Amino acid sequence: MSLFNKIFGTKGIPSNTGIPFVNPIHVEFHSHLIFGVDDGCETIDQSIELLRDFEQLGMKKVVTTPHVMSDFYKNSKENIYPLRDQIRQRLKEENIQIEFDAAAEYMIDDGFEKKIAAGDLLTFGKDNKHILIELPFMSEPPNLNACLFELQIAGYIPVLAHPERYLYYANDREKYIGLKERGILLQLNILSCVGYYSKPVADAAEYLVLNNLIDLVGSDTHHKRHMQILPDAIQHKIYRKVCEAELLNNYL
Ligand SMILES: [Fe+2]
Repeated sequence: MSLFNKIFGTKGIPSNTGIPFVNPIHVEFHSHLIFGVDDGCETIDQSIELLRDFEQLGMKKVVTTPHVMSDFYKNSKENIYPLRDQIRQRLKEENIQIEFDAAAEYMIDDGFEKKIAAGDLLTFGKDNKHILIELPFMSEPPNLNACLFELQIAGYIPVLAHPERYLYYANDREKYIGLKERGILLQLNILSCVGYYSKPVADAAEYLVLNNLIDLVGSDTHHKRHMQILPDAIQHKIYRKVCEAELLNNYL
């Protein structure tokens, strides 16, 4: 093995040197910490515990993203903002120094075009234009192109959550390029790096990172088990590699 490969590994990724990696990312954009509204936290105590964990991981700001789905999770600003404010109050009382806000993770389903037309979407970023979207895991939705077009015409910047988890893209990787060419930003789940979801998902994550296709990272934390894996995932060579890219996390 050449000296280069000994240092950087055979795929050009620095191998784990044993020196702890200090996470340069301080802003977290994908999680399910609003209690009782989706498959994430069930109680405010769980929300607070996970936010305390994020603080200990070095996060300065968390924008949580409850699911919005036409059939299952009919969330909107109306129910999310009062719960966000309750959590903010508890953070203050418990002296947890983390900035906390809420956006959403919108499923591209039959009802989504109506939501775009109505305006009032939960967004994030200093410009309030970034919007986190997700797709069904089985197949690309037939109205995806229409939704992306309508979002962009309305001035939103779509961020596709965990592109590595959609196997219909992971098995047809040119599709990632197509999304990027259309101005869609891609958000990698940190846990994908350690194979938390599956080997094909980890492989797709590696492909996306090595080809500089990732714009943001996020934890997609739903519960304590996710949080317990995060410190190891942050040490993973794929995560270290993606942090060399111009990620948007700290700037939005
Ligand atoms: Fe999520």
